[in-house]
Amino acid sequence: MQTVAKLDLLRKSIAALREDGKTVALVPTMGALHDGHLTLIREAQSRADHVVASIFVNPTQFGEGEDLDAYPRQLAEDSAALEKEGTALLWAPNANEMYPEGFATSIAVEGVSSGFCGASRPGHFDGVATVVCKLFNQVRPDVAVFGEKDWQQLAVIRQMARDLDLMQPFADDIIGIETVREADGLAMSSRNRYLSSEDRAAAAKLPREMREAIARIEDGQDVRPTLGALEDALVSGGFASVDYADLADAASLAKLNELGDRPARLLVAARIGSTRLIDNMAVQPRG
Ligand code: PAF
Repeated sequence: MQTVAKLDLLRKSIAALREDGKTVALVPTMGALHDGHLTLIREAQSRADHVVASIFVNPTQFGEGEDLDAYPRQLAEDSAALEKEGTALLWAPNANEMYPEGFATSIAVEGVSSGFCGASRPGHFDGVATVVCKLFNQVRPDVAVFGEKDWQQLAVIRQMARDLDLMQPFADDIIGIETVREADGLAMSSRNRYLSSEDRAAAAKLPREMREAIARIEDGQDVRPTLGALEDALVSGGFASVDYADLADAASLAKLNELGDRPARLLVAARIGSTRLIDNMAVQPRG
């Protein structure tokens, strides 16, 4: 596996990978890789001749007081894991390479960005959309693979690709992969390592209580009281606070007060100790 940190070298390496009409899949990450990321790499491998992974802890998607400095950085370990999976190229720029002096552009995706994490982390999705657009322009992949754990992020990126007429990848070539979970159901996340052992045990209540709420909603119980009960169960189960626990249309992310005939999604962000966890799950429409 080749590792490059400079844009001119990246362009040369990508051109070499593309020789003889070979295709390229991109898996953008912020590193601290876990099995969820490696599942994305394997999926990318099944969709293109070569896989390019990026590792860049993107400062513009972290708000003031968030965990930018504490975010785990382990390039050597990540690089070994990517190489083992057969990744062709690792793109690992530093912040100056990504945002040279004088950088002045930001992409704001309206609508899908505004609720949920967009409301509790102002500016977060502008940072995500901007860096992902840059990564797409830098690598020009045929497909790009993301985890569905960041459901809203995926919606924002697809909207951005559609609105800006991106051709590599087209919005339809932005692939979402189902969340990979620990044995007790907790969604894998680079931030799980922040949890104390007590908080880690309690964190498993998040997917459990979400499944319970989904069963009730699918069973026809009222949505708002069920979501209220979900928040209460999380707080009494050891979570410090709940940023949001809401039902939304799976595609538009419009909030729903009742289950309709289109796929819906239960989305939750909650804090345990000082760690903010997010999760989302499918809610089947009324048959
Ligand atoms: O999901 C992530 O790891 C990041 O938000 C991404 C997509 C790599 C952009 O920095």
